[in-house]
Amino acid sequence: MTFSDSFLDEVRARCDIVDVISRYTSLTKRGSGYVGLCPFHNEKTPSFSVSRDKQFYHCFGCGVGGDVITFIMKIENLDFPDAVAQLAERAGLALPTIDEGSTLAKRRRDRVYAVNKEAARFFHANLHTEGGREALEYLNGRGLTAATQTRFGLGYAPAAWDSLTKEMVKKGFTKNELIDAGLAVTGKNGSIYDRFRNRVMFPIIDVKGQVLGFGGRVMDDSTPKYLNTSDTIVFNKRKNLFALNFAKKTAAPAIILTEGYMDVIALHQAGFDSAVASLGTALTDEQVKLISRYKKSVIIAYDQDGAGIKATQRALELIKPSDLSVKVLRMHDAKDPDEYIKKFGRDRFLRLIDQAESESEYRLSGVRADFDTGSDEGKVSYLKAAIEELAKISSKVEREIYIARIAKDTGVSVDAIAHEVARAQRKDDRKKKRDEENRNLTPVRTHQPKSRAVRFDNPKSAIAEEGVIGTLTLRNDWISAAAEQLAPDEFSSPMLSDIYRIIINQHDAGRDVTPASVLGVLEGDASNHFSGILAREAEPNADALRDYIKIIKTEAAKAGEDALSAAARLYKDKKSYGG
Ligand code: UTP
Ligand code: MN
Repeated sequence: MTFSDSFLDEVRARCDIVDVISRYTSLTKRGSGYVGLCPFHNEKTPSFSVSRDKQFYHCFGCGVGGDVITFIMKIENLDFPDAVAQLAERAGLALPTIDEGSTLAKRRRDRVYAVNKEAARFFHANLHTEGGREALEYLNGRGLTAATQTRFGLGYAPAAWDSLTKEMVKKGFTKNELIDAGLAVTGKNGSIYDRFRNRVMFPIIDVKGQVLGFGGRVMDDSTPKYLNTSDTIVFNKRKNLFALNFAKKTAAPAIILTEGYMDVIALHQAGFDSAVASLGTALTDEQVKLISRYKKSVIIAYDQDGAGIKATQRALELIKPSDLSVKVLRMHDAKDPDEYIKKFGRDRFLRLIDQAESESEYRLSGVRADFDTGSDEGKVSYLKAAIEELAKISSKVEREIYIARIAKDTGVSVDAIAHEVARAQRKDDRKKKRDEENRNLTPVRTHQPKSRAVRFDNPKSAIAEEGVIGTLTLRNDWISAAAEQLAPDEFSSPMLSDIYRIIINQHDAGRDVTPASVLGVLEGDASNHFSGILAREAEPNADALRDYIKIIKTEAAKAGEDALSAAARLYKDKKSYGG
């Protein structure tokens, strides 16, 4: 459901952010705002601030921030419409009936779901035709039973250019609908042809049972091995997990997270019905949230190669701030769960699940594998590395368990190891403090957003860009003048440039630009970052604004010059080589 701006404004107006957040963490008044312990990360001193005037929150500790709607989304693990619905209900507001515009959009989406469903049926039916024999043999050859093939709706896309397109047109779908669904692409002469040809097909189905898209695998060694539906109006690969439609019903305590289609299907066939796949992309925030809506624990069972190990480490980082508990599964003599089950069977896989390691255990055994502890030298190097890892474990109980284990393993006393770990922890603390002091001394050099997904290329300009944004959000009467002097593409940071553009557009459209109006259209990193700007913004000041604009323009001119001189150099090089 999409909501009108005026309805969203009404929800925000009736759901005071201080009242709403107070239900989750206790807030005390300080200065012009409120502070409390952040409900999104563990902390002992409050770094979470909420402003009643500006209706936003921001945590200086973990960097999250936004308006009342994004707060509910995050804390209740809801998507936008559900969060709005929950707030509206609490405020006693009736949800609006769908307006004309959204009906059209909804109809378009429904047609995509419908054509996807028909396409899945068509692909599946092909398996049992003469043309689909090779595909059927391929799936049988990979050990998938007929029941599994049907359960997952596996199929075959014929080797022709337009077999699906023809069939779907016959069923009343238009060419545009096929393109909307990502099932067909436009050729040079304007005609359309099937995107998936001569591939084994895996439908991707969401938790409501709707077909979102497909993965298609070649049956030989050609590339790409898998072709997937690109993002469409119904499919966003960052926000879905393959087979969650089945896994959400599992009685197992943990979701098993794998990389690929075949891993998931092999696991389900062997009775592990909580397996899902992130489909070759790095795990995303949205997928973590999705998992935590259904289960409170997850076991990572990624491939055992270099890429899989990297992906595991990234996934661990991403899961850390969530409320999911996480374990990592290790396989020997098999590259992925599909291969493991085939080689060793389900009972052995069950044992792997029982033996799955906690994050610290996983890191420690990774360190252990790096050293040959047969020699004294190797033992010392191993202990040094292990002590560094142990020092990072915040739970005292967990730390002591591993210290005891390593003591036993190496024959070094518990006391000696514990002593070294404590020393390493003090060193870490000192380093943290030093880093912090350095940061305070050189704010420009280190001025970077909390989220590592966002980096500032030019921190000096970025500070000024933040100043412009913060000032104009609070002083609408200065927007026109600023917009005349400063264009969004003079900003060095794409994210800040987008926010500046939003401010100008809302102002041009005659809307009041407020923290809420801007936060209302921002998501994720941009929302977190913008709330941080608001939380730091002092009284708007015209002189400061003028300085900010001057800095941004000077920096932009410098960057432009650099690009020019680089181009000139390139031209000269070319000339001297070209003769
Ligand atoms: P893998 O290459 O590990 O494939 O890619 P796999 O799952 O083991 O597949 P089989 O056993 O060879 O059939 C893992 C996942 O990455 C995505 C797919 O989702 C795949 O399942 N991937 C891989 C692609 O999207 N495109 C590719 O070309 C390769
Ligand atoms: Mn595989």
